[in-house]
Amino acid sequence: MSGVVLPEGFRLETLERRHPRRGFDCGEELVNDWLRAKALQHQDKRLSATKILLDPRGNIAGFFTLATGQVDFGDLPSDLVRQLPRRALPVAVLAWLGVNHAHQGRKLGDLLLAQALRDCYEAGQTFAFVAVVLDCVNDRAKSFYERWNFAVLPGNPYRLFLSAKTLAAMMGQT
Ligand SMILES: CC(C)(COP(=O)(O)OP(=O)(O)OC[C@H]1O[C@@H](n2cnc3c(N)ncnc32)[C@H](O)[C@@H]1OP(=O)(O)O)[C@@H](O)C(=O)NCCC(=O)NCCS
Repeated sequence: MSGVVLPEGFRLETLERRHPRRGFDCGEELVNDWLRAKALQHQDKRLSATKILLDPRGNIAGFFTLATGQVDFGDLPSDLVRQLPRRALPVAVLAWLGVNHAHQGRKLGDLLLAQALRDCYEAGQTFAFVAVVLDCVNDRAKSFYERWNFAVLPGNPYRLFLSAKTLAAMMGQT
């Protein structure tokens, strides 16, 4: 996967207090509430990091939030953990992603997901993890992610994962 190219006039920034997050609406209340009310607090506490995509007018066209986490050995598929220790294993978490409704259907969701995965891959060169995991808010979100090699974790139909090996292959590194 080559580097992510933003549309003309768009820019990607780390979320800051000055950004107009109250106006963000992706049509999914849980996701709106996260960006409007919680993302900055969690970032200030070093629990997660949020990047926003600003449109040429300075409005938030979309965003994603990444965090670190752990998944128990037994919750991952057997082919992934075959040679791994039987303990909690480090994962990257794609915690949230959304595109403002005015910008939906223009491939910004794909663009943000590509950027999020690239960020995970690059961070993984320093802080290793065995997979990227995410929780889907609904079936529509699930089918969006399944187009990107994410697979369902055994025993949890709304928790998806992408192994670090598959991620590296997607980044053209294996
Ligand atoms: C899901 C979401 C991020 C997609 O963003 P988007 O910019 O509209 O998507 P794109 O234009 O990049 O679409 C890329 C592809 O995904 C498909 N797609 C878009 N929205 C989809 C959805 N909700 N479900 C399934 N597929 C979807 C498109 O048809 C397109 O497929 P194609 O390339 O075969 O035509 C956006 O609809 C959104 O913010 N939804 C509400 C929040 C949410 O569900 N977030 C995810 C969980 S945290």
